[in-house]
Amino acid sequence: MNKQALETIAQAMVADGKGILAADESTGTIKKRFDTINVDSTEDSRRDYREMLFRTTEAMQENISGVILFDETLRQKAADGTPLSQVIADTGALPGIKVDAGAKDLAGHAGEMVTEGLDGLRERLSEYHGLGAKFAKWRAVINISDDLPSAACLAANTHALARYAALCQEAEIVPIVEPEVIMDGSHSVERCYEVTSAALTQLYAQLAEQDVHLEGTILKPNMVLSGTQHDAQAGVQQVAEMTIDCFKKCVPEAVPGIVFLSGGQSDEDATAHLDAMNKIGGLAWKLSFSYGRALQAAPLKTWLGETGNVTAAQAAFAHRARMNGLAAQGQWDAALEG
Ligand code: 13P
Repeated sequence: MNKQALETIAQAMVADGKGILAADESTGTIKKRFDTINVDSTEDSRRDYREMLFRTTEAMQENISGVILFDETLRQKAADGTPLSQVIADTGALPGIKVDAGAKDLAGHAGEMVTEGLDGLRERLSEYHGLGAKFAKWRAVINISDDLPSAACLAANTHALARYAALCQEAEIVPIVEPEVIMDGSHSVERCYEVTSAALTQLYAQLAEQDVHLEGTILKPNMVLSGTQHDAQAGVQQVAEMTIDCFKKCVPEAVPGIVFLSGGQSDEDATAHLDAMNKIGGLAWKLSFSYGRALQAAPLKTWLGETGNVTAAQAAFAHRARMNGLAAQGQWDAALEG
């Protein structure tokens, strides 16, 4: 393991004022996104849409440290023949790759999932390294209900995350470890805190057991939020304070950065929460973003698959990237949303 190379990549992923664009929707998920704007999902339409984002040059240079890609995109060429990974690298951002094979039903545990994809992962990582990937992502899904998650769900998912992370580091690829506690449900913010703490505690125990070099990893967690169907929704300051409190207890200081998923929050909530956490300050790790929907919802709605809308869609993406770049430094203000 080349620890120094891993640490250098991990630190670049959380450089000041920068975060990650998650553009690694699987073929099924991007189709669902395109369905909302009545655009057919084809190899070309997916390429055109993603190329549009990656060529939003100033935002990419200023606020995006890396882009998570789906396998298809890492192999695709832009309309002018340049590999999309090169288009990204030309902006100074790092190309990354989603390597899990998706969350599947966990045997014997109704309502729970386990992420697959370890078989053959060493060979795939070696190929991805050759294709220019500097980091990878693996997402575990943890649902909350009165009696979920089960111990089996947490054990299976954190074990898989740790084995994935160890394989990544062997291939000189920085693993983003993503244990996503899902926000859907009627649970309270306190219950989300409890489950997030349990997931993170087990995750770091498993990472230690597999001898993963924490300085060469990035954590991608959920924020501590009220369930979407819960009556009383925790406010921005409470979310920020509870999330920070949870991480201080569960995330080792050796971890260089924490990049949040947006998980279905509104664009502005995702930005406001990140900003409020950074305004608290005095933290051991960098706190930034790795948003999919909270960066892409606005440009997707503006684009509508029309070439004539590209400039406006790029402006919408640039705005969200800038707002989140400010939030990553605790310098955002709602008035900037205009
Ligand atoms: P969202 O920000 O839309 O939750 O997506 C981030 C991601 O990459 C989930 O794995």
